[in-house]
Amino acid sequence: MCGIVGYIGNQKSMPILIGGLKRLEYRGYDSAGIATICNAKLVINKQKGKISELESSLRGVNNDGTIGIGHTRWATHGEPNTINAHPHACCNRKFALIHNGIIENYAILKKELLEKKHQFESQTDTEVLVHLIEDYYKQRSDFELAVRKALQRLDGTYGIAVICSDEPDILITARNGSPIVLGISDGEYFVASDPTAIVAHTRQVSYLDDNEMAIINRSKMVIKTIDDRPVEKRVEQIAFDLEKIEKGGYPHFMLKEIMEQPQTVYDSMRGRLLEEEGTAKLGGIEHEIHSLLHSGRLLFSACGTSWHAALIGEYLIEEYVRIPVEVEYASEFRYRNPIIDRNTVVAVISQSGETADTLAAVREAKRKGAKVLGICNVVGSTIARETDAGVYLHAGPEIGVASTKAFTSQVTVLALMTLLLARMSAMSASVGRTFVKDFKQLPEQIEKILKSRELIKSIADRFVHKSNFLYLGRGINFPVALEGALKMKEISYLHAEGYPAAEMKHGPIALIDENMPVVVIATKDSTYEKIISNIEEVRARKGKIIAIATEGDDYIKTKVDYVIYVPQFSEFLTPILTIIPLQLLAYYLAVKRGCNVDQPRNLAKSVTVE
Ligand code: F6R
Repeated sequence: MCGIVGYIGNQKSMPILIGGLKRLEYRGYDSAGIATICNAKLVINKQKGKISELESSLRGVNNDGTIGIGHTRWATHGEPNTINAHPHACCNRKFALIHNGIIENYAILKKELLEKKHQFESQTDTEVLVHLIEDYYKQRSDFELAVRKALQRLDGTYGIAVICSDEPDILITARNGSPIVLGISDGEYFVASDPTAIVAHTRQVSYLDDNEMAIINRSKMVIKTIDDRPVEKRVEQIAFDLEKIEKGGYPHFMLKEIMEQPQTVYDSMRGRLLEEEGTAKLGGIEHEIHSLLHSGRLLFSACGTSWHAALIGEYLIEEYVRIPVEVEYASEFRYRNPIIDRNTVVAVISQSGETADTLAAVREAKRKGAKVLGICNVVGSTIARETDAGVYLHAGPEIGVASTKAFTSQVTVLALMTLLLARMSAMSASVGRTFVKDFKQLPEQIEKILKSRELIKSIADRFVHKSNFLYLGRGINFPVALEGALKMKEISYLHAEGYPAAEMKHGPIALIDENMPVVVIATKDSTYEKIISNIEEVRARKGKIIAIATEGDDYIKTKVDYVIYVPQFSEFLTPILTIIPLQLLAYYLAVKRGCNVDQPRNLAKSVTVE
């Protein structure tokens, strides 16, 4: 989604803004721009396309402005072009504004402003807000009041930053639904939609909550609610290092993050396994564990990859804890009238902790009186803060738009939760101890699979001219088939479908001929015999089969075209292994097809609009 960065201090703002925008590139965008105040005048530069294009257009420009705002846009209203790029200015060019979110009542406001003879340049909803601020400013020449009054008229979501050439020492930012982090340093302040944009300058941050605004000058920052009540904020430390958001020698963040998984899965388990007792410890949900255990029903809600992790959670918890589990897309949950009674615990899963649909599901569940747990990666994110309790993934910043390491950490955390709950109910200590042993071997087992990447690359090379893929799995590996297919479509732009293998014969089998590659997860587990039958069905129709199989399974070689082996492992943790070859397959195929793996077309890292 859109990215926001702002600066006020004593350094030249332009390089800081450009540097911040580059850090936000991973979120996905189609155009970018910056505005500064230089010699009491607003200077705005915008470009369609990459930040590097904006940067080259600024080469040689002498801009001493020490206050400024910058934006990467992911189009919602109006096509991606230079005019629609942010910042937007008002008629008298005193105000420049950047915005992340959607102003739902912009059409009504625009009509009102047009009647007052405001001139609009763009097709965006955002431009309405800057004209509205100008309109209120004309009444009292009070910057803060004008912003406040304008925001009070909005329906929708926003994270904004605004500057005014009459007030070159004040930057105002506000949030309702779209994240804003404030970076604090000596005599200077930073504003961003994501801490990655500012971590190079400061690690001291505060987060705005909904309906709050910050009025910032070079010596202080005042935070208030939109209706003018003072707010006290905690100053927190950004928990990750700069190197975590750099490519570290890899060609793409996605590959780096796939390769990091032995470590990130380890980090998700670190300090959470109790060997002696054969159980897990999850401090963040300690106080809620009894309500979870005695809940009549657990409802997971999430989007995309996180939703796939939730499906695996359903298999795990129902199998080992025997609590009924439901999994629902957050976007559906929020717009129907789900049955949530006192016995329902809702758990949401979100890497970013900012996904608009998932956040709305949290709020809806809370409104209905449910206890809501959050499983998030981004520390301090909105979902992490708004849920009653939760567990962090500790996977570190995920920059690649296609989620990889967050998925394996989500499944790891769900498996830890399963172990903890199972040990508090029917599971014995000795069985628990074998589970703990299996957990501990995970990083080493992932490492082994990563060593097959040359093989996976060579398989990917053979399928580069195909246009469809079918992914099949059964049981706990069915969600892995869905996730493998999602990885393939989002970064290689090839059509891919995931199916429970047995469902194939109820329709998709019609698609199978010698041109259809079928990826089958066929590990030696409780569904092995069944999946071999499904493989036969594909073979009979000449489909090309790539199997993800268990090391030592020579028989499968006689049945399929290509085999990628994963180590023999305990079934309940296999999804953490079987997804790795599928991530690599999608990655190498996309690279071979020349796709922009880290910034796939039309996609954004954190979907903060509905
Ligand atoms: C796919 C992907 C998306 C996200 C989805 C939810 O690779 O990244 O499908 O999983 O947008 O995002 P979070 O987990 O941040 O709520």
